[in-house]
Amino acid sequence: MSRRPVIAGNWKMHNLQQEAADLTNGIMQELRAEDKAALPEVVIAPTFTALYAANKALKDCGCGKVRLAAQNCYFETKGAFTGECSVEMLKDAGCEYIIIGHSERREYFGETDEMVNKKAVKILAEGLVPIICCGESLEQREAGVTDYHIASQITKALRGISAADVAKSIIAYEPIWAIGTGKTCDSVEANRVISMIRNVVKGLYDANTADAIRILYGGSVKPATIKEQMAQSDIDGALVGGASLTADSFAQIVKGAM
Ligand code: PGA
Repeated sequence: MSRRPVIAGNWKMHNLQQEAADLTNGIMQELRAEDKAALPEVVIAPTFTALYAANKALKDCGCGKVRLAAQNCYFETKGAFTGECSVEMLKDAGCEYIIIGHSERREYFGETDEMVNKKAVKILAEGLVPIICCGESLEQREAGVTDYHIASQITKALRGISAADVAKSIIAYEPIWAIGTGKTCDSVEANRVISMIRNVVKGLYDANTADAIRILYGGSVKPATIKEQMAQSDIDGALVGGASLTADSFAQIVKGAM
């Protein structure tokens, strides 16, 4: 099965509204000459306060080449949950994807596997696509428990989700030691872990579901690394942090995945 590549930019806690609009317009400008059908699925994930500005820029352009994601959500629909944002609210703001379980959310904001699962269930119920992050720390890698840890994160994240919904979902394998460090995981090793994740999905579901799910690599992806990453059998794209903050480098990564 051929899986459509995905390049997603995780802007993290960067960009005021005008900056978000400028970056969005800059990316679309860089991609203007590209045939939409030949492009990977291109996704940008601004922070909550910049979603409106980015969505407006996308709608004003109307080229349909770039889609919107949120970096987090809450799994309840509405109510007394001060400071949280529901999936419905994010859908209303134009989001089609939501990143969940990012290692920074797990580390600094106490996001657990159970919360990741509840969020994934809710996102899929609303017809959006979860980008489910997983990854091991340096200590876990050195202790030789990478595969066990990742398999556990994925098994828990997908609990109770149907094969059809899993097939529509996206997983991002992001070794924590490679995030924001400039130290990219070796492509062959990233591909090995991603194949292992695909095997976990096959074990939980079936071969068709494992073939359909897109699994991205994340962690210091740069224009210089993307071609080798995309040349691997199981890497279906990238979740990009730092290099998604300028239109030029993000567009180079998008083009490198074509
Ligand atoms: P990075 O971040 O590309 O800056 O390493 C990736 C991520 O955290 O999603």
